[in-house]
Amino acid sequence: MKRKEGYKKSAGARIAAIAGRMWVAAAALWLAGSARAQQTAIIPQPVEMETVGTTWTLPATLTVGTTDKALGHAATYLADALTQQTGRKVRTGGKKGDIRLGLDRSLGSGAYWLSVGAKGATIEGGDYAGVVNGIATLRQLMPAAPDTGATVAGVKVSDAPQFGWRGFMIDCSRHFYTVGEIERVLDMMAYYKMNRFHWHLTDDQGWRIEIKRYPALTLKGGWRRLNGQDSLCLKRAEQEDMPNLLLPEEKMRTADDGSREYGGYYTQDDVRRVVAYAAERGIDVIPELDMPGHSLAAIQCVGGLSCSEDTRWGRLFSTPMCPGKDTMLEFCKNVWTEVFGLFPYEYVHIGGDEVDMKNWRACADCQRRMKDNGLSSEPQLQTWFNHYMEDFFRAHGRKMIAWDDVVDGGLSPYTTVMWWRSWLPKGPKRATSHGNDLIDVPVSYFYLSGRDDPSKMEGIYRFDPYATLNAEESQHVRGIHSCLWGERIASAERMWYQLFPRFMAVAERAWSRPERMDYEDFSRRMLKHLPRLEAMGIQYRLPDVTGLIRTAVFTDSDTVSVACIDPSVSIHYTTDGTMPQVSSPKYTGPIAVSQTTHFIFRPFGADGRKGDAVSTSLVKTIMAEAVGVDGKLLPGLRNVWYDYGGDNCAGIEKAQIKGEYVTDGVVIPREARENIGLVITGYIEVPHDGIYSFALYSDDGSQLIIDDKMVVDSDGMHDIMEVTGQHAMKAGLHPLRATYFDHNGGDLRLTVKDKHGKKVEVKYWHK
Ligand code: ACM
Ligand code: ZN
Repeated sequence: MKRKEGYKKSAGARIAAIAGRMWVAAAALWLAGSARAQQTAIIPQPVEMETVGTTWTLPATLTVGTTDKALGHAATYLADALTQQTGRKVRTGGKKGDIRLGLDRSLGSGAYWLSVGAKGATIEGGDYAGVVNGIATLRQLMPAAPDTGATVAGVKVSDAPQFGWRGFMIDCSRHFYTVGEIERVLDMMAYYKMNRFHWHLTDDQGWRIEIKRYPALTLKGGWRRLNGQDSLCLKRAEQEDMPNLLLPEEKMRTADDGSREYGGYYTQDDVRRVVAYAAERGIDVIPELDMPGHSLAAIQCVGGLSCSEDTRWGRLFSTPMCPGKDTMLEFCKNVWTEVFGLFPYEYVHIGGDEVDMKNWRACADCQRRMKDNGLSSEPQLQTWFNHYMEDFFRAHGRKMIAWDDVVDGGLSPYTTVMWWRSWLPKGPKRATSHGNDLIDVPVSYFYLSGRDDPSKMEGIYRFDPYATLNAEESQHVRGIHSCLWGERIASAERMWYQLFPRFMAVAERAWSRPERMDYEDFSRRMLKHLPRLEAMGIQYRLPDVTGLIRTAVFTDSDTVSVACIDPSVSIHYTTDGTMPQVSSPKYTGPIAVSQTTHFIFRPFGADGRKGDAVSTSLVKTIMAEAVGVDGKLLPGLRNVWYDYGGDNCAGIEKAQIKGEYVTDGVVIPREARENIGLVITGYIEVPHDGIYSFALYSDDGSQLIIDDKMVVDSDGMHDIMEVTGQHAMKAGLHPLRATYFDHNGGDLRLTVKDKHGKKVEVKYWHK
């Protein structure tokens, strides 16, 4: 542990650079040393911050000085940001200034200390990145906009990151974002101290980076006809009354044959510009060219890359590249050689996820490659390819990152594994016990492209990267990452809607020490940041309307109550099935119901901005009688796994049975891995008469039927989602049937609560 020796003027503030997992020591110092600065709202939460009782009134013109010439770019970046934020003229140059930037090499990488007094501010960073992180804190202490004040509270802050890797990936293949839009992303990353920008540049739906040797990759592969995902976006735009789901006109063109095409790409100059812009903000850029799967755009533009001419979408994934062909290996090396010239950071990402290997089984070239190298399975062929590319990367001074799918065929020694398959919880252990470094981006919470709901932010916040690892394995955890996949993110406006406010939780999880993290406190600070986002033009997603069960039941009369954590939001509702508008009735308190009623509630911002609507049906019902069962009952539920590749629960039983199990609840049997269709049957035993709430959490679709009544319907292909329903039941046994499907793994959980949200212990039985 490195430590700065202490502020000259304050005995209280002492902690500085703290590496690794020295939480306990940090907590002790913090508790002993400082009072918390209450009125400020810094995200991510610093290691230590104390107010000093002074106030700095911003002068009409601000000056930024640097004591080290390596910080020239940091000064320019700060000046640009403050010009916008404060509306003032900001001058740079010289060593002195209202804001002074310097280096203190005794601090660790990314660490900084910041002092704001009556006359200005001083930031010292352990390195360039540390100074940039100090700038982020200073900006968050300053007024959000020119018209929100001119004073800054005096503070002393001493801070260092928990994780050196705090990453964000954006998929520019499925939908394309301009250089200007990417620069805004980098601005927001820096504002929240995120420091690794992972640029997913190629996939089946588009190749987005100019490669001089293969111009067709972008001239042809950068454009496509509108596809099923676009149609889905357009349909949702209408259904959900959400214009941010529409395709922007400026990313469309008319092809020679008159058809409409969507696309765009980055020239090599564009890439250089983005890399330089990122560097100014202390951010390293990691290019991802996904290989050998997710490569249809390349395969259809350049010959000799696939096993055969028959290239298309398979049942789940697309035709992959052919690692049996030398032409394919040459292509990969040629492309990466050009890419190395554009990206200075040592890490590069080869993808490696979701490869449809059945093509390789039928390919003479692949089989020959396997025979020549003594390989007995297709996953081993992917490992062989990874080894081959890793040797090439290493010869060029680069380190390889890959998605955790590459673990399946045996790991290459140096690969840094990006664990995304949260339905395979042993993934982190498999990688780290092998000695490989790990970056966590579990799909369950860290895929920000997925539908947001009230459980997601807390799931991010409470994620424990060490939960399954021993001390030695824990040493390999490099950090936390988040992803925005582009299939359903057609516009930059939608991108911001998906990212914020969740991005703040990712940032705090990646930066802050667990003993400084408190979800309630974070929620309060997060709310204070919303006007800041507004001032920066970020159209974040309004906090949810909460308190609702998708299908609630009552036997006599009931009331419906909703809430929103953001007091500036107003909630409007309808009961006729139409989408609420600001002109619809405003929710002002509990609404009494005595008949079955279908409500739709929707939050609106002070400016009329719309959030996501949520619906609830309050259904008048009678209490279901318990059933008598002849014969002996055994504990658990009967759980049948079908080899199912469909997209709804109805078709599951038409597929072949793969295995029959008994599970202790509504869960996926351990044995079921891919192509999962489940039919789970038996009895639920409830302890007393009452209304029970069932929260069914699944990715993809699921349904829950009790007493022949659909209690939760969460059918269809979707991301992880929790859907709730209620059922009124007499004490005793009730027949239960749950169905579930997912193609490549997934998640399934059922929680039972009483009417007031308190967890209830129930029993499951089968015959
Ligand atoms: C992935 O989401 N296929 C890495
Ligand atoms: Zn092949």
